Amino acid sequence: MSETGSRLRRLECRACCSEFDPDRAVGTCPTCGHTLLARYDLEEFDGRAWRASWPGRDASLWRFRELLPVRRSESITTLGEGGSPVLPLGSVADAPGVELWIKDDGGLPTGSFKARGMAVAISRARELGLSDLFVPSAGNAGLALAAYAARAGLRARIYLPQRTPSSVRSGCAAYGAAVTEVPGTIREAGEFARRTEKGRGSFDLSTMREPYRVEGKKTMGLEIFDAMFPDRFPDAIVYPTGGGTGLVGMAKAFAELRALGLLERAPRLLAVQPAGCAPVVRALRDGAAAATPWAEPSTIAPGLLVPAPFASERTLEAVRMSGGGGIVVSDHEILAAMRSLGSRHGVSASPEAAAPYAALAGLYHDRLIRDGERVLLYGTGTGLAFSIDELARQLSPA
Ligand SMILES: Cc1ncc(COP(=O)(O)O)c(C=O)c1O
Ligand SMILES: [Zn+2]
Repeated sequence: MSETGSRLRRLECRACCSEFDPDRAVGTCPTCGHTLLARYDLEEFDGRAWRASWPGRDASLWRFRELLPVRRSESITTLGEGGSPVLPLGSVADAPGVELWIKDDGGLPTGSFKARGMAVAISRARELGLSDLFVPSAGNAGLALAAYAARAGLRARIYLPQRTPSSVRSGCAAYGAAVTEVPGTIREAGEFARRTEKGRGSFDLSTMREPYRVEGKKTMGLEIFDAMFPDRFPDAIVYPTGGGTGLVGMAKAFAELRALGLLERAPRLLAVQPAGCAPVVRALRDGAAAATPWAEPSTIAPGLLVPAPFASERTLEAVRMSGGGGIVVSDHEILAAMRSLGSRHGVSASPEAAAPYAALAGLYHDRLIRDGERVLLYGTGTGLAFSIDELARQLSPA
């Protein structure tokens, strides 16, 4: 049995300040029901030596294993996730004077950044002896859970909103997962899943309802640091926001790098949401501590159709503490951005992944990004499973 060297020390609830033993399986805070976050022993840890060790390791996200929660190498369940490219996009007319980059997670296993969170959460679930897992999903999280559960030999049940593309359903089934369709959005799918699974002894892997998916998402920030610091480090990161777990994960990465003395100033985090479902951006603009549910949500970006994000407090905190902000884009702008990323830059983007590019004109206009800055767009998933023409038909004429 070999140790990973994980510095995991405890789980902590930011809402009620309770602390818990990380080596027992737990979902949300047993005291108050909020999100638990992993805390690591960083005091006696040599950050500089740690960073110097990365180049000699393989390119997957497990190169950061000391700041991941998995304790034994045998628990690691991998399909080769992480190590995605950062690519220069030059400058574009929508934001002249801004040096643009994209980090493209479209080539990760199952085609999206969700592989990061699931690889870590499933590895840890296996280590803690869990065998039955379920998740409500707009698509990508379900595919990732199904693939990693298959690899780990665990059982997975996926609850999909009824309008999820049939390719997701068949993809999950091909990995051997049980799929249930639920009328409504991810919100209804989540409520139905939790009702149905109650008493079955299964474990809820919904984002922010267990502590370890966000640890996998943290590797987005660690990889940006690894690839771009110090000479090309971005001033701002533009992120397509549904529940916002990715923002919480990246903020956590930069906070831990700061605690290790490796980083002074973190990039500003900029949240992009579709105009038809923007509870996080609305809360940012209203100065609210938590998002309120969005009535009649609608967008062509399935992963951004999250009308009532759980733990929005953490997402809002991550954006605000970074000095960032938020903006909305229309579905038409998202479609145009998918086309531009593909035809001008050779980058295939899902509707979610195209949203940051779609936001450039608005961000520039609102001075959320400025001349002379370097800005990284986060490309969360491949567009290869989508037909732009079909998406265009879903929209009423502009
Ligand atoms: C491709 C894609 N991008 C972005 C998101 C939103 O992620 P987050 O929960 O981190 O806001 C999702 C969520 O399903 C997604 O599938
Ligand atoms: Zn609590």
